[in-house]
Amino acid sequence: MIRFYMEKDYDAMSYRAASFIAAQVLAKPTSVLGLATGSTPIGMYNELAKKCADKKITFKAVRTVNLDEYYGLSPEHDQSYRYFMNKNFFDKIDIDKANTNVPNGQNPDPVAECARYDALIDSFGGIDLQLLGIGRDGHIGFNEPGDAFIGNTNYVKLTEDTIDANSRFFASADDVPRYALTTGIRAIMQAKKILMVVNGEAKAKVLEEAFFGPITPANPASILQLHADVVVCGDAPAMAYIAEKHPEVLEK
Ligand code: F6R
Repeated sequence: MIRFYMEKDYDAMSYRAASFIAAQVLAKPTSVLGLATGSTPIGMYNELAKKCADKKITFKAVRTVNLDEYYGLSPEHDQSYRYFMNKNFFDKIDIDKANTNVPNGQNPDPVAECARYDALIDSFGGIDLQLLGIGRDGHIGFNEPGDAFIGNTNYVKLTEDTIDANSRFFASADDVPRYALTTGIRAIMQAKKILMVVNGEAKAKVLEEAFFGPITPANPASILQLHADVVVCGDAPAMAYIAEKHPEVLEK
């Protein structure tokens, strides 16, 4: 089942998304959370940090596995996803950092790192709730559009579109790493629940195609149509096409 929540703006989207994660952690304090970086979830992470500071939830027994990491960046690099997670979330909550995991972008053997990461996720018994954003080309994690869905954690060459989209965080597009490590479609699809956060009109078309178009590796997020428990939480601009073409699917 896929449920669509259209919230009026970014703050409302963040609040709603945080309430889903908080409910998961309350219901199962030992949850394994699959986490994402990017600009979309920052507001949601802030909301969760507030709930934690107010002692409404605790992350003490939670384990996390992040979706992806640039290949070649150290954890201290301010554009690495490990750095992002510490700064935007882990440093603000009561989680034990030893329970937080991000692919190691400095493992000299990226293929071995992918295998290690899959084995780690499997050793946790899989993911309870996977948070996802969506790229404007439909990517989830760094699973880029292609000819086939890739199951395992994989070492990928980023598309020009992703490099261009992410260049806003770097001094120039030339500084954006060309390769990344990303959790594959298998671990994502095996997560018990999926929460997608999405904001801004630039995502509206690809979002509608992902959930109402063909299931195709040309739009990697489209595979989520096969998942049994997905919540899509978007702001009004991102949900605009879905609201226009399929108003009946929106949660009241
Ligand atoms: C980040 C990730 C990516 C982003 C996507 C959207 O860990 O996995 O798939 O979710 O690129 O990024 P933003 O939120 O910056 O638009």
